[in-house]
Amino acid sequence: MTTTMDPAHDVTDLGLASEGVRRIEWAEREMPVLRLIRERFERDRPLAGLRIGACLHVTTETANLMRTLKAGGAEVVLAASNPLSTKDDVAAALVAEYGIAVHARRGEDRDTYYAHLEAVADAHPQLTMDDGCDLVSLLHSSRPGQVGEVLAGTEETTTGVIRLRAMERAGALGFPIVAVNEANTKHFFDNRYGTGQSTIDGIVRATNILLAGKTFVVCGYGWCGRGLADRARGHGAHVVVVEVDPLAALQAVMDGFRVAPIAEAATLGDFFVTATGNKHVIRREHFEVMKDGAVLANTGHFDVEVDIPALRDLSTSSTVARPHVERFDMADGRGLYLLAEGRLVNLAAAEGHPASVMDMSFANQALSAEYVAGNHADLEPRVYTVPREIDDEIARLKLESMAFAIDELTEEQRRYMDTWDEGT
Ligand SMILES: NC(=O)c1ccc[n+]([C@@H]2O[C@H](COP(=O)([O-])OP(=O)(O)OC[C@H]3O[C@@H](n4cnc5c(N)ncnc54)[C@H](O)[C@@H]3O)[C@@H](O)[C@H]2O)c1
Repeated sequence: MTTTMDPAHDVTDLGLASEGVRRIEWAEREMPVLRLIRERFERDRPLAGLRIGACLHVTTETANLMRTLKAGGAEVVLAASNPLSTKDDVAAALVAEYGIAVHARRGEDRDTYYAHLEAVADAHPQLTMDDGCDLVSLLHSSRPGQVGEVLAGTEETTTGVIRLRAMERAGALGFPIVAVNEANTKHFFDNRYGTGQSTIDGIVRATNILLAGKTFVVCGYGWCGRGLADRARGHGAHVVVVEVDPLAALQAVMDGFRVAPIAEAATLGDFFVTATGNKHVIRREHFEVMKDGAVLANTGHFDVEVDIPALRDLSTSSTVARPHVERFDMADGRGLYLLAEGRLVNLAAAEGHPASVMDMSFANQALSAEYVAGNHADLEPRVYTVPREIDDEIARLKLESMAFAIDELTEEQRRYMDTWDEGT
């Protein structure tokens, strides 16, 4: 179905476009804040003439962000930020129905993944929009000559922000980046409520195992881990939290969870989910003591939280038990089950965050893109937080869309909060 009008693309099957459109429109129903922004962008065109290179999960919600950026006047080129999260019908719809250049195929191998990122870089983006810093890394590592062409960028997730801060500290960052992840309206909704629900969704879809009565180990009690532990408890699981940060661990204890080191938790769990942004959180010595039938999944950004090479090495053989479920046979007869190849289980085995959650993240992306488009000349090559006014505006729009109203400070209250001399 390729036509001469289609933008440059490499997608699995343009014939899937009409299914993609139906699902993109379904998601849009739950994205009222982004819709309001798109309507304003259509009028104001704040991104007119800008080329945006995006590396994001190619999902229905991302499609609505792409439509918003295009409505703002931008030319957008999109590649996937994870080889397993691409929805092929969405990629097709973006190309064939919405005129957006997409380079993403579900299940693409590592070489294709990087070839797709190169295709985005070939478009010489002036703004970057990353989820995990891969595009920014590529530009800085293999195309330094292009770094000067980029006015600014945005970053979606915790792991990307950690990398960008490391680049900033090393003096290696070549342009300003707004850390969308750090907006309250992003991580509060997305990491906590979005990851909480969709990770459980991915595990249940992949395994169809009842969670009630099982021991569910959550590694990392940050924004994502908290949401996940809460939802697992809601399903009737006994949750054990693994942490390295004393304050986060204390919070887990005070929230009513059992806290244990991974060496101990490894012997207890029926399910293990990593949400740390760290590496090799679950390792060889832990696989060695796990129960027969233990299920391992990751919902952190990269597929390194479970030491998969060690798991392969330890096992005598492996088989696909169900879609997204690989069984590893241990020499002593036990079987351990790894979900979604250790990649983000909520995106690989389910549909990622619900649209109403991504509404908040992508409202931040759209308004941050508008902000950097207008202010890049005043910004230094540093990592910036999302301006407070953007965060507040998104929270206000979301409440409005949910038909909740709040109070405003009275003049007397405002004065009282501003003074220090009025006591008892
Ligand atoms: N699945 C998704 O859709 C999704 C959404 C948002 C973020 N993420 C990713 O999830 C990861 C976590 O994000 P977050 O916002 O919760 O981060 P966070 O910084 O709030 O929390 C991470 C927690 O993990 C703990 N931790 C680090 N190393 C550990 C170890 N070895 N053992 C146990 N705990 C350890 C830290 O102390 C911290 O409390 C990141 O990789 C992020 O990019 C995924």
